[in-house]
Amino acid sequence: MDSTALILCDNLVKIYKVADLEVVALQGLDLTVETGELMAIIGNSGSGKSTLLNILGGLDRPSAGRVVVGGRDLLKLDDGGMVSYKRETVGFVWQQSSRNLIPYLSALENVQIPMILAGRSRREQKEWSNELLEAVGLAGRRTHRLSQLSGGEQQRVAIAIALANKPPLLLADEPTGEVDTATATVIYSIFRRLVAEYKTTIVIVSHDPGIASRVDRVVRIRDGRTSTETVRRAIDLAEGDGSAKEKLAPGSSGTHEEFTVMDAAGRLQLPREMVEQLGLGRRVRVEMEDGQIVVRAAIAGSVAERGTVEAVGVSSGEASKDVVGGKRRWWQRR
Ligand SMILES: Nc1ncnc2c1ncn2[C@@H]1O[C@H](COP(=O)(O)OP(=O)(O)OP(=O)(O)O)[C@@H](O)[C@H]1O
Ligand SMILES: [Mg+2]
Repeated sequence: MDSTALILCDNLVKIYKVADLEVVALQGLDLTVETGELMAIIGNSGSGKSTLLNILGGLDRPSAGRVVVGGRDLLKLDDGGMVSYKRETVGFVWQQSSRNLIPYLSALENVQIPMILAGRSRREQKEWSNELLEAVGLAGRRTHRLSQLSGGEQQRVAIAIALANKPPLLLADEPTGEVDTATATVIYSIFRRLVAEYKTTIVIVSHDPGIASRVDRVVRIRDGRTSTETVRRAIDLAEGDGSAKEKLAPGSSGTHEEFTVMDAAGRLQLPREMVEQLGLGRRVRVEMEDGQIVVRAAIAGSVAERGTVEAVGVSSGEASKDVVGGKRRWWQRR
């Protein structure tokens, strides 16, 4: 186990039962998040993003698998343990967080409420709530009532509230879904500052197509499983001069590289576009060729001539290879 990991999800399964219908929202999801990481989760509607966040936030329990946050195994916590986990370990922000704020209290009073509930001293309440409002850029608005603030300002108060009890983990489910691009940029810079100054770990669910440039890592969930991962290049983080650009592997978009995720058992999900384009059925042939793993369509007992996919650097640790004969790379068509 990685000692610096704050979050560890192992083969996480969540099944919702509605009447006699079962919905598998998460089907064996693996995820590791390091302490102090600013990362995002993306995926189509219904892919399981909010389900995952709710489990991490202790609002919902998984059906099977393992989820450990800050050393606590969430499946083993009793109700009391869950209450203190929610109070001490996580802060939660969602799209309409500001609806839960109290409109006739000031920004400062709203931020102090969770601290009062947690029994913090008056002095700590005052100092920390002022510092938080300053961190979210609202020092000049602290005495304004919530109803006197704009939507984006209210959302920033919601972020300050989520951090009131200094949780090591901040979960944000589409926090910028209802604000304009400029406000979204402000909110992401607040996240970045929180990570730098308070070592907070932040997991954001987002539909923002430009999210990769705002965070360190983006994980894509497809059908309830982690499928691909886009990582900011190390050279970019080290503020390289960009001269390495020509050497970028396919699948990278300048400063980011996209990888397919393989689990501990060696399972990986092939992109649906590739599967459809190559007409891969339920059975495929997996072979080693020149130190690479090749997946071929199996047609009536013989190996198909067309439709060769060189799989994702499994052997070499390199980035995704192109589809042989394909017109465009799958990651360029999305
Ligand atoms: N409480 C629930 N009861 C039954 N089914 C649910 C429940 N919550 C979610 N689901 C189902 O689980 C699946 C995953 O839902 P989830 O809310 O996690 O998706 P999402 O990725 O957050 O989507 P969106 O981007 O639209 O918010 C969906 O098929 C959804 O219908
Ligand atoms: Mg959702």
